[in-house]
Amino acid sequence: MQTKRGRLDRLLAKHFNLPRKQIRALLLSQRVTVDGIIIKDMDFQLDEFMQLACDGELIRGDVPRYYMVNKPIGIVSATQDSEHQTVLDLLPTELRADLHIVGRLDLNTSGLILLTNDSRWSESLMAPGAHVAKRYLVTLKEAVTAEYTAAFSAGMYFEFEDITTLPAELIIHSSHQVEVVLEEGKYHQIKRMFGRFRNQVLALHRFKIGALSLDPKLAAGQWRELTPQEVKNARA
Ligand code: URA
Repeated sequence: MQTKRGRLDRLLAKHFNLPRKQIRALLLSQRVTVDGIIIKDMDFQLDEFMQLACDGELIRGDVPRYYMVNKPIGIVSATQDSEHQTVLDLLPTELRADLHIVGRLDLNTSGLILLTNDSRWSESLMAPGAHVAKRYLVTLKEAVTAEYTAAFSAGMYFEFEDITTLPAELIIHSSHQVEVVLEEGKYHQIKRMFGRFRNQVLALHRFKIGALSLDPKLAAGQWRELTPQEVKNARA
């Protein structure tokens, strides 16, 4: 994921193709502003969405953008793919620039995917220490039993990566349909966890990340912008 944070002098040097000495002079001449405030400090650190201008002309000024997508089966969770349509392809071309995916899903998993250009926000949701709950609806080939619940909550050891999964919640809705709540996202995690019981996952659908529920008005393949309130409270 690319971030757009960095030192002001480096950004200006690159933009104007000028040596550091001239950048210092430019800053001292009070022609450079960040978010409307004159900055003279060479070491000033620019954050992702700070508005940088010289002589009143905007040099850099992205605005943060946030979308939810109802990913259909068969669409790949990537920004580019030579074989399949990607989740990004579901948005109009003019909105796609600089977006990245917040929490991938397998090709044959459906449901909630978030897209943003705000890497701090996505990190706050997906960093290993964030412990944000992801909720999935799972349809299984065989009937589940009560022992599944204990195994999910105890965590499972995956030899390949030498890791033990974090305690996961399993809520049994019916004999073949359950809800799984994960605070992490290991490779094919849910399928592998049910694989321990030789129980095949027939359908997997993510319907919630943190406090963000997939909008029931979005049919598979549709998307919408998040509201400012949803962005702010996503982790809650
Ligand atoms: N677990 C899986 O096995 N696949 C997903 O897409 C998400 C969680």
